Amino acid sequence: MTDGRAIGVFDSGLGGLTVVRELIKQMPNEDIVYFGDTGRVPYGTRSRETIKKYAAEDERFLLSHGVKLIIAACGTVSSVAADSARALPVPFFEMVTHAALSAVSATKNGKIGVIGTPATVSSGSHKREILKLMPKAEVTAASCPLFVPLVEEGWCSEDDIVVTETVRRYLAPVIEAGCDTLILGCTHYPVLERAISRVAGDGVRLINPGVAVSKAVADYIETAGLQNSGENKGKHKFYVSDKPDSFKSLASVLLGEELDDGRVEQVDLNDL
Ligand code: DGL
Repeated sequence: MTDGRAIGVFDSGLGGLTVVRELIKQMPNEDIVYFGDTGRVPYGTRSRETIKKYAAEDERFLLSHGVKLIIAACGTVSSVAADSARALPVPFFEMVTHAALSAVSATKNGKIGVIGTPATVSSGSHKREILKLMPKAEVTAASCPLFVPLVEEGWCSEDDIVVTETVRRYLAPVIEAGCDTLILGCTHYPVLERAISRVAGDGVRLINPGVAVSKAVADYIETAGLQNSGENKGKHKFYVSDKPDSFKSLASVLLGEELDDGRVEQVDLNDL
């Protein structure tokens, strides 16, 4: 059996492109439809109710494109709105459980750090999942609200003093707690991986949830026999809810490839 439908991916904005990058690496033949809610980013500072409402609208948009599964490539949605998404008519993948699994397999001292948006950290989602897998784990979570604007501004270099000082201040509790493993619990953060690693030091293993979720999706597609084996496969189309200019210009940093005009389109979710 094969399945030519696309994989649906959504995020509050650009961050989910770090997940798309991993998906393309692991499944170059799969078509991908991406929705970035750039008109309403950030989600991470909003209320639970608003995040759930936005996530449901994003999922409805992807379903209107006939996708075969949906990935919430957003740490905030995965932390706050994953339960309601389980009622979707297609399989749903989120970032938290996969990140927790990877962190638990990586840690040697049982001390795991989590960084994410304020909504992600206050949900306690990673801690809950980690403790299910490793009840004696010590989890230290820190919210890093300035990381998303830094990335959206394109300030990501480990040689940029503003970046490294911001990272240093946010990571202090994680370093103080002696964590040997750190979950990058927001999809924007892998872009800051080098700066985070420089501050955290070589002894701290960084977990990019996009890698683990892409592996889980690849395994699911293979086991269920849903690979895309059609003609002209591996197409990637990107939709955004605000003007595409900054999305396109930052895509090369997050996705690792340039996006030309034909591949990014602005849509209005109210038109559905
Ligand atoms: N993509 C979001 C996340 O992974 C971060 C940006 C936002 O706050 O919406 O949590």
